[in-house]
Amino acid sequence: SDAEAAVRIVPVAELHLHIEGTLQPELILELAARNGITLPYSGLEELRGLYEFTDLQSFLDLYYANMAVLQTERDFADMTRAYLARAAAAGVRHAEIMMDPQAHLTRGVSLETCVNGVASALATSQEDFGMSTLLIAAFLRDQSEESALEVLDGLLAMNAPIAAIGLDSAEVGNPPAKFERLFAKAREAGLRLTAHAGEEGPPSYIIEALDILEVERIDHGIRCMEDPDLVERLVADRIPLTVCPLSNVRLRAVDTLADHPLPAMLAAGLNVSVNSDDPAYFGGYVDDNFSQLKAVFDLSDFDRSRLAANSIHSSFASEERKAELL
Ligand code: HPA
Ligand code: ZN
Repeated sequence: SDAEAAVRIVPVAELHLHIEGTLQPELILELAARNGITLPYSGLEELRGLYEFTDLQSFLDLYYANMAVLQTERDFADMTRAYLARAAAAGVRHAEIMMDPQAHLTRGVSLETCVNGVASALATSQEDFGMSTLLIAAFLRDQSEESALEVLDGLLAMNAPIAAIGLDSAEVGNPPAKFERLFAKAREAGLRLTAHAGEEGPPSYIIEALDILEVERIDHGIRCMEDPDLVERLVADRIPLTVCPLSNVRLRAVDTLADHPLPAMLAAGLNVSVNSDDPAYFGGYVDDNFSQLKAVFDLSDFDRSRLAANSIHSSFASEERKAELL
């Protein structure tokens, strides 16, 4: 329909996307065959049956297990190109892509292999897909800060093409304060800063991410709605919150999409955007998130053009690129 076509041409920036979470079941099986890896399930049908989650950890278990098929630079590049093609079709014109180096290093895959593989596909994203891209190295908060510092050192030593660092994986029990030195070091190195907070963790984790890590952006952040003083601060400071509605439903942070706080967040004046997080796991890309939101909320409840403009203003792109995108 015309309305659906209109959804697709609103240019949007995707700011919250884990590249490993774009690995589709078909590609998992293809890479397993290519690399001679035996998977603990019989085939596509059985694999697809595993995408039923009860919380963040139940998803993370499958997400990390499926990474076993990523072995070569070519594997990382193929995964990344598949995402870029699909995101371009969804209307994404700029993408800020997280990757989890520690999840590969612990499997014996080198920093060069994973970083260069993803980066090689990103290097031609403008020519190939009309998309500007940048890379965010995300650190696993359920591992030690020492491990994260070592990996950051490795990334800086190899002059990895990263624009920012992030913080992801199991949130509860791993508060932002655990990574104060990591974020200070990244800031000194000139990197931009973002962190997951307030997905499953309490509003106090959002406050810690702002006060102790000094992040510019909060990934998820939906639980800010439990703390009116925090909401007031986030509004006043225009702190971007990269919200992922379908992810929140599938990981049961909210009961159903109709219960999602996005309309209330917009009404409160928060700087929110719509993102896909791990689209191969959570039922859809940015366009799917928008179309499902449209199906359950009034158009006036979630102003698509405002969400798109927020995503561009909240990006780490140059001011020149932002102006082109707006
Ligand atoms: N939350 C935390 N860690 C993650 C996620 C997420 O949604 N996706 C990949 N790692
Ligand atoms: Zn995420």
